[in-house]
Amino acid sequence: MFEIMMELVNDVRNYDGTCSGTTIYKIPFEESDVVVDLDTLFEGITNSDVECNPFEIKPQAYILCGRLLIDGKEHQIKLISMNSPITILKNKFMNKKGKFKEIKEKIGKVPGLAIVLVGENPASKIYVNSKIKGCAELGFESFAHYLPENVTEEELLNVIRELNADEKVDGILVQLPLPKHIDEKKVVETIAFSKDVDGFNPINVGKLAIGEKSFISCTPYGVVKMLEEYNINPEGKNVVIIGRSNIVGKPLLQCLLNKNATITICHSKTRDIKAITKNADILIAAVGRPHFVTEDMVKDGAVVIDVGINRNEEGKLIGDVDFENVEKKASYITPVPGGVGPMTIAMLMNNVVEAAKMQNGI
Ligand code: GUN
Repeated sequence: MFEIMMELVNDVRNYDGTCSGTTIYKIPFEESDVVVDLDTLFEGITNSDVECNPFEIKPQAYILCGRLLIDGKEHQIKLISMNSPITILKNKFMNKKGKFKEIKEKIGKVPGLAIVLVGENPASKIYVNSKIKGCAELGFESFAHYLPENVTEEELLNVIRELNADEKVDGILVQLPLPKHIDEKKVVETIAFSKDVDGFNPINVGKLAIGEKSFISCTPYGVVKMLEEYNINPEGKNVVIIGRSNIVGKPLLQCLLNKNATITICHSKTRDIKAITKNADILIAAVGRPHFVTEDMVKDGAVVIDVGINRNEEGKLIGDVDFENVEKKASYITPVPGGVGPMTIAMLMNNVVEAAKMQNGI
């Protein structure tokens, strides 16, 4: 086994083949793997020679992974990194299918997302900013409502009611967690289910449970899309999810059950987690504990998806998975940051488009 140090390149047209030293990912290859020479990839191969799933080797070749077909031979690059899903999504909407343009023409306006943030939670502020940025990148309108920590529940519910009635607003998102004096359940129930781009309203949760079309919580939806994009079919596979939150664990269970996976959810009361995770073909960590998943908990060749976003003592973002050691065993693994996180934003944008279509009967 040997390693290739890779640098992610934003625009291959500007790539001169050298590494500036800011290597971001180490990609270990088994001896049996085909090693793709990156210079060849960038300089010698044009888009028509390479069938890259899901991404195209185009100017923005952020993505140095996926299934590559070169001269009819399949080359697998291991690391899943959705480095700029927003760009990909934008291209999907705007360039490829003209879907976004079509919606704009049909409804006579761009889709609009209202984002409500209560209080000063620093992590929530960062998430909200990236959602606003996601809207700006796609040319969507965003309406940010910053409410003070001491806002009353009734005041917040009234803001939501106004947004429900506002025609400019297609999707509504109230960033969680909320201060303790506000009942989250009441808040998500007040958001009109047709504008509930988070998929938290019980109507959407119920629809997902019975396999009906609904808004799906963006993080689980992002995980499902990642698996789809990488041709990883959960059908018949042992999927183990660590964490049973309403935002991630439970909707993921529903999504993957709808795809015929055999699923186990582990949580704080689970006994001998390792014995369970060792059986996982697909292991999803959404537990919120830094480096909770260690190498000895992972089966050789497992697909490992890390939903965790934690900070270590130095303030660095790290996942729930001990990436450095687990990557040696995994067939696919998502990094933190840069893996599931950006997909969450991408799927939120997708849901905003779906909401805009729904509000306008398209
Ligand atoms: N807090 C953590 N994740 C989420 C999310 O997906 N949506 C909202 N609204 N709040 C969150």
